[in-house]
Amino acid sequence: MKKTQLLALLLATVFVPLAAHAQQKPVDPAGHQWWQHAVFYEIYPRSFADSNNNGIGDLNGIAQHLDYLKQLGVDAIWITPCFPSPQVDFGYDVSDYEAIDPMYGTLADFDHLVAGGKKHNIRVILDFVVNHTSDQHKWFIDSKSSRTSEHRDWYIWRDGKGPNQLPNNWLSTFGSPAWTLDPKTNQYYYHYFYPEQPDLNWRNPAVEKAMLDVTRFWYKRGVAGFRLDAVDTLYEDPNLTDNLPLPGTDKFGRPNQDEKYNKKLPEVHDAMRKLRTVANEYGSVLIGETWTANVAQLKDYYGAKNDELQMPMDLMMTGFKGLSANEYRAHIGEVNSSGQWPVWVITNHDIVRSYTRYADGAHNDDIAKLMGALYLTLRGSAIMYYGEEIGMENNIPKSRDEVQDPIGKIGWPIEKGRDGERTPMQWTDGVNAGFSTAKPWLPVPASAKTHNVETEAKDPDSILNFYRQLLALRHKEPTLLEGDYFAINEDDPNVFAYLRRYKDEAIMVVLNMSATQQKVQFNLAPAGFSAPKLSLLLTNAHAPVAAASDGLTMQPFAVFIAKVTK
Ligand code: NOJ
Repeated sequence: MKKTQLLALLLATVFVPLAAHAQQKPVDPAGHQWWQHAVFYEIYPRSFADSNNNGIGDLNGIAQHLDYLKQLGVDAIWITPCFPSPQVDFGYDVSDYEAIDPMYGTLADFDHLVAGGKKHNIRVILDFVVNHTSDQHKWFIDSKSSRTSEHRDWYIWRDGKGPNQLPNNWLSTFGSPAWTLDPKTNQYYYHYFYPEQPDLNWRNPAVEKAMLDVTRFWYKRGVAGFRLDAVDTLYEDPNLTDNLPLPGTDKFGRPNQDEKYNKKLPEVHDAMRKLRTVANEYGSVLIGETWTANVAQLKDYYGAKNDELQMPMDLMMTGFKGLSANEYRAHIGEVNSSGQWPVWVITNHDIVRSYTRYADGAHNDDIAKLMGALYLTLRGSAIMYYGEEIGMENNIPKSRDEVQDPIGKIGWPIEKGRDGERTPMQWTDGVNAGFSTAKPWLPVPASAKTHNVETEAKDPDSILNFYRQLLALRHKEPTLLEGDYFAINEDDPNVFAYLRRYKDEAIMVVLNMSATQQKVQFNLAPAGFSAPKLSLLLTNAHAPVAAASDGLTMQPFAVFIAKVTK
């Protein structure tokens, strides 16, 4: 080998990987990346702000509220799909991955939003629907056109087992069989979601390439990363083995089944690694919609070599029933000792809002503050859902006729759909909560009169002001970003308490998860503080709080956050 060739080879092996990570600059001496310090804010674009007053939110509406988001303390927004779509699943049925749905604006509006975000130091994350397209996507239209079309193998087509028989017993999670017959070519196509959302065939290298190219398209436009939709449904068993039945029926009345052959196949991790390689080229972050039954499963999504998702969402807490100090303590302890960077989520556009899930009728706002204090003071990244910061509640449709989300129509009255958690952002106590002058696509609940940005901004005790203080603390106190997690008072079944320890100090978070007053005593010596001094940073208490020699009195659902020094 010539000297120059050798030099070129050396340069390629040494400098390519370095260049690939060039934009992943740590933001602190601990080597953390920006997303590890960030608070992400999920925006459902139909419902956030309607700049052209047609009843549906849009990108310019988001851009007009960047000041609000900055003041709140948000570092990045994740916008659920805003690409052209027939809107069967409100954007999760994409018909063109490289454009903006005219309902939401134009590519120029998108660029304007990204530029505005840059000025506000707010990054933009898009939602990438990796598992399926719309049946109106040009790839599927071609795929369907004949058995020999160029894109035939971009989707999953199979013959029925026999006349009028489906290829196997798999079910769509949205209430139908997972197979739909196309009469023209007399084959079935597979769809884990609605029939209008055919699954892509990720085993076809052309599909994989096209999808990776989509991410490049948006990275080049300044997108800071993606939330990857439904990743565990990317691959299916090519032999179409039937799933085994499980006891009981689902919310659509169908026998349950163990989705062993059409979910969480090991190949998912290959796809995650490939998406990550491209993300690394642009210094971008990948967030996963990762539904897992336990922490070990969640750990898998980071990749054996930390080469898959930087931020697989921990969605497990969204399934906790009620508030139990023991349950949260056990889960959070386990996540922290798993060695990965946690990603905390308590609600989103598919889940009943946390305000409604936890409300007890007597302490609703205090509970909303307590939940905020929980996931925003833990070690890890946090993902908020729009409206959590003002205590928005679910507005569940009263009748089937009102329902917009198709699963609510199919599954009524057991499954009422997801409209309830997707209602317009409540900006004021005025008409349509200030979201739009036109009739909004979903109705605003009566509670918008009290729980809205304008009203709460004026009330120092509001949920909004609590969130603002909480996020300000997160930005101001390095301990909340860098500190370790150290559980204290571990045998208390009512009060969940922990320290975040950093250098010589700590921040103590005490959360009374019960509806009764609790007296709490602390022994912080095992945590390294034998004579601790406490100074209050934030509380939701309605009267002044002080730690007395006999302990701290915590009112029902009280939050006490204090600095601990030696
Ligand atoms: C998960 C999304 O969060 C949900 O809203 C959507 O319906 C399904 N994936 C299908 O894309």
